[in-house]
Amino acid sequence: MLFLDSSDPKEIKDIFAWGVIAGVTTNPLILAREAGAVDLEERIRAVVAASKGPVSVELVSESEGAMMEEARLYHAWAPTRIVIKVPFGEAGLRVTHALASQGIETNVTCIMSFNQAYLAALAGGTYVSIFSGRVRDMGYDVRPVIAETRAQLEREKLAAKIIVGSIRHILDVNEALAHGAHVVTVPPAILRKMLHNPKTDETIREFNAAWASRAK
Ligand code: E4P
Repeated sequence: MLFLDSSDPKEIKDIFAWGVIAGVTTNPLILAREAGAVDLEERIRAVVAASKGPVSVELVSESEGAMMEEARLYHAWAPTRIVIKVPFGEAGLRVTHALASQGIETNVTCIMSFNQAYLAALAGGTYVSIFSGRVRDMGYDVRPVIAETRAQLEREKLAAKIIVGSIRHILDVNEALAHGAHVVTVPPAILRKMLHNPKTDETIREFNAAWASRAK
């Protein structure tokens, strides 16, 4: 399954029309880059309107109390659609656990290792987000992190779903799915690259040229 890693309502609406995307993830970096000075509530409501399925909105507070308050605010914008993206850590686990007990969905984010993903799943995270590109930046192989997490979720019948994000190349998408990701969240630019293959273009050109120059 694919989600779109974007906060651009126009791009989101356009790509949702392809029928291949099941949700949206945002983060503070994406929002700062794409939305700039736009009001956060206004932008998130526009993202919700432009899409279907879960929309992840990330907490930026650091204390547990402030995180809970921020989570309640975001959740109220679209209770059936907003998933609270919780940065991994001790406070993050407490918040994940508390939100789960209130029936609020979470996406525990910035996960780089199996042990972090396992803790996030045990705390009741709806999703655990493993960051492919950033794990590779450290010189580690992300594939066993994904595969071991998936195997553990299955062994203990934990409900969490694995999202693989931080996608830099098409191959990251393929590998994440092959190693057990339930969802890959893909930036629009990578998704557009997934459309293209020169042999496809050549074949379509050949077919259309043959049809146009047929004997009449
Ligand atoms: C995932 O949910 C994150 O939004 C995203 O994929 C982060 O990746 P990056 O900042 O490494 O691109």
